[in-house]
Amino acid sequence: MSNDDNRPVNGPDGTPEPYSDETGADSHVPAHRAAEPIADPGLPAHTWRPTDVDPKAERRAERQIAAMFIAAMVFSVLFVVAYFSFEVGDDWDTFAGMGASTLALGTTLGITLLLIGTGIIHLARKLMADVEIVEMRHPAASPPEDREATVEALNTGLDEAGIGRRPLVRNTMLGAVGLLGLPAVVVLRDLAPGNALDIGKLAHTIWEPGMRLVRDVVGTPILASEIEMGDLINAAPEAMFPSEENGYPELHGAEEQAEKAKGAIIIVRMDPDDIIPLEGREKWTVDGIICYSKICTHVGCPISLYERTTHHVLCPCHQSTFDLADHAKVVFGPAARPLPQLPLAVDDEGYLVAQSDFTEPIGASYWEREKQ
Ligand code: FES
Repeated sequence: MSNDDNRPVNGPDGTPEPYSDETGADSHVPAHRAAEPIADPGLPAHTWRPTDVDPKAERRAERQIAAMFIAAMVFSVLFVVAYFSFEVGDDWDTFAGMGASTLALGTTLGITLLLIGTGIIHLARKLMADVEIVEMRHPAASPPEDREATVEALNTGLDEAGIGRRPLVRNTMLGAVGLLGLPAVVVLRDLAPGNALDIGKLAHTIWEPGMRLVRDVVGTPILASEIEMGDLINAAPEAMFPSEENGYPELHGAEEQAEKAKGAIIIVRMDPDDIIPLEGREKWTVDGIICYSKICTHVGCPISLYERTTHHVLCPCHQSTFDLADHAKVVFGPAARPLPQLPLAVDDEGYLVAQSDFTEPIGASYWEREKQ
């Protein structure tokens, strides 16, 4: 190996080969550079690593690196085992509010990536070539000789990295990186159409016949008579505000968040004559009060930008616009279907209640719609 001045680099046994300047004195800076206004400090003397000079240390480093890659393979497999062993959402408070599934998947994938990264760093620090290489500037165009030189340099680099000469390291590294695809494939399975998902969880919400509609955040029930013409109210199912009085059970953690998100609704009041009900939905409104899911059917943003004169409601994410007077059909934007409607009634005390759950899945229009 040599640098740009064709000066041999120092060997494992000794100090760098010095330059001789015009005065005959030894220097680590070439003579033509020493004449420059700011002296080139040159390269520091090279220090050889134990793995460069001791075959035993070299083999030990090889084994350490291979062990890391093998451990990474084991943790990739453990990720897959964990994926099939734990139900998503089960044991949601196993540790610090995280579920067993989340913990196991995160831990195994994290350790896999850490081991591969550490192995590669170890390979670079202990076994790859450790000499300084200087490349002189070239003209912008790349003549064929340069390309050949590049290929040669690449091959030299590969040779110096020692990958070809170290089949144990090469094979375990390829194995670890290759198996890393396994967790990705398993996780992508959840995005594929088919029977991979529990569709029932997506198709139903916490709404049930007779459940009161309550104001979002504060949880107070809503009298039909107190809604003004043109009002839009953000509301939620009463079950999200359990009390001794209403008897709904307490929900916690992921389950509470999921039900809260799925049950979110908007209520508006308009002139009953403006409403164009779908067939079969003629009795889903109360004196012009109509209720829809608050979750956009594009990719699930919450909606509430309402224009009372047109009865249009706009999703702030990608501007899908729904006509609430005409069964919330899409009048603009990327959403592919109307907002699901919640059938309304009033109870004996005049409070708004649901006649039933939504009759179609709320939220983004994924493949689950085909399964209904
Ligand atoms: S999420 Fe509503 S338009 Fe995209």
